[in-house]
Amino acid sequence: MKHLIDFQDIENAEAKKLIKYVIREKQEPRNENLSKTVVMKFDEPSTRTKVSFSTASNNLGLYQIDLTKENTSSVKGESLKDEITTLIDLDVDILVLRTSSDDKKIYDDFNEIGIISAGFGKVSHPTQALVDLSTIISNDGFDYEKPFVFCGDLKHSRVFHSAVELFPKLGIEIGICAPKEFLPKNLNNFILFENIDEAIQKSSGIEILRVQKERIDNSENFNLNNYVENFQLNKAKIDKASDKLMILHPMPMNIGIEIDKYASENFRMFHRKQLSFGIAARKVALKYSLGLI
Ligand code: CP
Repeated sequence: MKHLIDFQDIENAEAKKLIKYVIREKQEPRNENLSKTVVMKFDEPSTRTKVSFSTASNNLGLYQIDLTKENTSSVKGESLKDEITTLIDLDVDILVLRTSSDDKKIYDDFNEIGIISAGFGKVSHPTQALVDLSTIISNDGFDYEKPFVFCGDLKHSRVFHSAVELFPKLGIEIGICAPKEFLPKNLNNFILFENIDEAIQKSSGIEILRVQKERIDNSENFNLNNYVENFQLNKAKIDKASDKLMILHPMPMNIGIEIDKYASENFRMFHRKQLSFGIAARKVALKYSLGLI
């Protein structure tokens, strides 16, 4: 079994293969009967990731068990290590986990179960990166000569952190556009855009990221009004964009914060296209974890 928590140890060729399989799976979905057991443990709320993992699991003929933090023995003080060892001893093949924890290393010692991140804290959401990259490169008009720009709350975004690891493996340069409190510590590997207008003009596409109010603490001095005034994607900004500009959003959207209602309904928005890759990406992730890809 293999983990899919981040892309750090995945070679470029393997990353290309994963994306190729996601696109193929979306075009020609195939049901299978793999007869393995998957535990889905979602300790944070989810709509898209949970539904698409469950559907993918059904389509692959996996037996699915749903857990949350509240209904497992972790509420009685059981450690994560004991919990995972228990799942192994009970013949679970894959653990799909959404957690608020940023710890990715704790899973290194477990080889008898595949662990897939369905969103880890601020650091990892690999299947969303597969969804986003499949959406981007299957768009005929995508221009590899220009950067793809992430706008918004980069600091708290697991979507951004997984994309940063994956997109360059397929030759896509990453741009960033955010207020200084949301910028990454190390800017070396990014093209920095001062504002959304510039990002819109000079990029192949942009992804608007949700302001993650639940992960921002008081010490960060975040000014919401300032953010909305300077970094919201709104009518004035989107109406100046090229018709070919792709705009992604991993959802859910905070209408009135990172995006206004007009922009959220604009024809340049690809968020529903992203959703159309959701089941295929999770099928590929589950098969990868089982060692079948
Ligand atoms: N994009 C995403 O992870 O959405 P959910 O939180 O609804 O799964």
